[in-house]
Amino acid sequence: MNKINIEDIRKYFPIYNNNPDFHYLDNAATSLKPSVVIDAMNDYYENYGVNIHRGVYKMSYLASTAYEDARSKVAKFINADDREVVFCRNASEGLNQIDLMLAKTLKSGDHVLSTPLEHHSSILPWQNVASVGIILDYIDLDEDYRITLNNIKAKITDNTKVLAITYASNTMGYITDIKDIISYAHQKGILVVLDAAQYIPHAKVDVKDIDCDFLAFSAHKMFGPTGIGVFYGKYNLLKKLAPVYYGGDMNNDVDFYKTEIKKPPYCFETGTPAIAEAIGLAKAIEFIEAVGYDQIQKVEKNLLDYAHSKLKEIKDVIIYNPNTDLGIINFNIKDVHPHDAATIFDNYNVALRAGHHCAQLVSRTLGVNGTLRASIYVYNTKEDIDALVDGIKETISFFKQF
Ligand SMILES: Cc1ncc(COP(=O)(O)O)c(C=O)c1O
Repeated sequence: MNKINIEDIRKYFPIYNNNPDFHYLDNAATSLKPSVVIDAMNDYYENYGVNIHRGVYKMSYLASTAYEDARSKVAKFINADDREVVFCRNASEGLNQIDLMLAKTLKSGDHVLSTPLEHHSSILPWQNVASVGIILDYIDLDEDYRITLNNIKAKITDNTKVLAITYASNTMGYITDIKDIISYAHQKGILVVLDAAQYIPHAKVDVKDIDCDFLAFSAHKMFGPTGIGVFYGKYNLLKKLAPVYYGGDMNNDVDFYKTEIKKPPYCFETGTPAIAEAIGLAKAIEFIEAVGYDQIQKVEKNLLDYAHSKLKEIKDVIIYNPNTDLGIINFNIKDVHPHDAATIFDNYNVALRAGHHCAQLVSRTLGVNGTLRASIYVYNTKEDIDALVDGIKETISFFKQF
C-alpha cells in the first residue's frame, strides 16, 4: 500500500461513512476496520474460500499460500522467524496456551511473578494453574502505579521461573521499560511472557531486540479482524512444549495409541484455522505500515494533549493517569458512577468504556469501583474530544440536580 495521508485517514473506514456522527473513543477495546481489511477477507470468501493445507487442488493451494504468507507478514512485522508465529483466536487464548504449556514444565512451589497492571488475560491463566501448586505473586507498583525493575528485583526469589508482564497497560496507558526487565529476568533464568495486546497497535514490536521468550497480541486492536491473534515463542522453547490442543492438521502420523505431531508452529494450530482472518491481519499490518507508527504516535499525542488541556478546566474530573504514555485517559467524574456517565455520553454518540476494563487489580490498587476510559487511535479528531468534553459537562450538570 502507498503511504497514507493522515488527513484522509477517515475515508479508509466505512463505519464513519455509515455513522458520520460517531465519536469512537473505545479503541483500547478494539479498533475500527479499514475497507482494505474487509475487502481482503471478502476476496478470500468470494474467490478462493476453501480450506488450507489439505487440498491438492489449485484453489486450496491459493488459500494455503495466502494463509502462510500472512504468517510470514506477521513474522517480519515483529522480527521473528515464520516458525515462531502461531495463529490463535486472540491475545487471551494465546496467553492461555503459552501459560498452560509452560505450567506443565513447572513444579509445585515454582513462582510466577506478575504485576497489578495486568489485563485479566495475563494473570487468570496463572491463577488457574495455581491450584496445582504454582505460586502466583505480584510486584508492588511505584507511587505513579508504574512497573519498575527495582520492584521486580525485590520480588524475585530462587523459585521465580516465569515473569508474566504487560508491554502496555490497557487502563493506565503506561509502557513498560521491558528491555532492561527482560535482560535482568534472563540473568536470573526467568522466562518472560509478554502481553503485547495494547502495545502493538501503537508502537513497533521487535521480539529479537527486546529478547522476550513469549508474546501475544490480537489482530482486532490493530485494524484487523476479530477471531485471530498471534502468539510468538522462541523456536528453541516452542519445540520443547507440548501443545494444549490436539486434532486435525497438527500431526504427521497417527497410530492407535501414539501420534507424531508436526513441528512448530503447526503442532499448535489444530483444526481449520481462521483463514480469512489471517488474510485480514496481513492487510491490517500493511495498513499500519502505510500509516506509519510515527504518524499514529503523533496524532495520538496531539489529541491527548488537547484532551488534557480541556479536561483540566473541568474541576470535577479526576484523571488517574495524567502521565500516560498512550492515548488512554482513565478518569472519573466526582460523585458519578462511571456506568451512569457512559450512558449520558452515548446521547452524544461518544463511545467509551466504563468499569474495570478487564483489569480489576488496577481498580483495586487505585481504590475505586471502576473508571471511565477514553482511548484514542489515529483516526480520532478534535471533534471527538470536544464531544467527550460536552458529554462530561452535560453529565455533571445532570447529576448536580440531585
Ligand atoms: C493489555 C491487554 N491484554 C490482553 C487483552 C485481551 O485481548 P483479547 O480480548 O483480544 O483476547 C487486552 C484486551 O483488552 C488487553 O488490553
